[in-house]
Amino acid sequence: MQQYLNPNCNLMSIKISPIDKSRISTVDFDKLDFGRTFSDHMFEMIWQDGQWQRPKIIPYGPISFTPALQSLHYGQSVFEGMKAYYADEETIHLFRPEDHHQRLNNSSKRICVPETDYNTFINGIEELLRLDADWVPRKRGQALYIRPIAFASEEYLAAKASDNYHFYIITSPVAAYYKEGFNPVSLTTADGYVRAVKGGTGEAKTAGNYAASFLPARQAVEKGYTQVLWLDAIEKKYVEEVGTMNIFFLIDGTLVTPELSGSVLNGITRRSVIELAKDQGIPLEERRITIDEVFEAGKSGKLEEVFGSGTAAVISPVRLIHHNGKKLEIGDGSVGPLAKKMFDTITGIQYGEIEDTFGWIHPVKVKDEARVE
Ligand SMILES: Cc1ncc(COP(=O)(O)O)c(C=O)c1O
Repeated sequence: MQQYLNPNCNLMSIKISPIDKSRISTVDFDKLDFGRTFSDHMFEMIWQDGQWQRPKIIPYGPISFTPALQSLHYGQSVFEGMKAYYADEETIHLFRPEDHHQRLNNSSKRICVPETDYNTFINGIEELLRLDADWVPRKRGQALYIRPIAFASEEYLAAKASDNYHFYIITSPVAAYYKEGFNPVSLTTADGYVRAVKGGTGEAKTAGNYAASFLPARQAVEKGYTQVLWLDAIEKKYVEEVGTMNIFFLIDGTLVTPELSGSVLNGITRRSVIELAKDQGIPLEERRITIDEVFEAGKSGKLEEVFGSGTAAVISPVRLIHHNGKKLEIGDGSVGPLAKKMFDTITGIQYGEIEDTFGWIHPVKVKDEARVE
């Protein structure tokens, strides 16, 4: 077992136990299925006796718990989803890791999971990237998906905040989201279900929010739609967000996105689109918008584009919205110029092709014995 002290880590050093033999030769990087392939190493940190213990990096693999694990019963689990991009032989780009860490801590606070320190978080990710640099796919569009997760790990059937937690960071190489051009999606509002209510956990990236959305999401797919367009839980008329994306409407030259109401996830891509729009002088409004306003804008020809924003697809053009038996077709069903421009600019910055004037990129220097195709 090798011990490794990271000179940049001003807190607890990470104890590193590297793998004996890499699994990478078994992976076909041209046939990656999202979330099914995992890199050689993972970061692990345990909360006990009221504090986080020394972090470790260990071989990726199963972890052992009893069926009395508190998070399985009471849902105390928060996570993040971010990506690393291959910029050149020596450099990997992380996109807005500080924002993701801040959101993780906000989510943690909401459900009583202990917060983590940014230095430990970023040092853990940097060490994982250096150890598993070969797992960061090299082709444009591909990326390394990074999934931090913290969950209650006490063996105790008590409906209260746990005394113990496990925190992991696992990484997964993923294929290009759009392999053959954009794939515009169709959305439907959900009949009889709501995702989140102000004061609840909608703003947190907590496991239970996703579990609650699976039945309506399945029903949407059965009816032929890609995802659910969520409306507010009280009046059921204000647009909130999509299953795994925030949403934007280009109406008569103004980009409109629902305001952060307390029940909408504060998307990092949403934030990036807003900053880009402001930078490019595109009129931008964060405000309440009703589904009726969207349909009326469609009828009067003022609805120019609709697109979602999220880490997975970056920008996802919307071609159709269904609500209460009515269908609204957007444009000619192809990707609009603003959605394309947002996609090209954000991905260009992520891959280091466009200068990052916003401070979004955290570059990580990795050893250059990386795999070359
Ligand atoms: C419910 C929900 N809304 C919005 C988003 C988009 O957030 P981000 O841009 O940070 O990926 C996601 C994805 O994480 C999500 O799960």
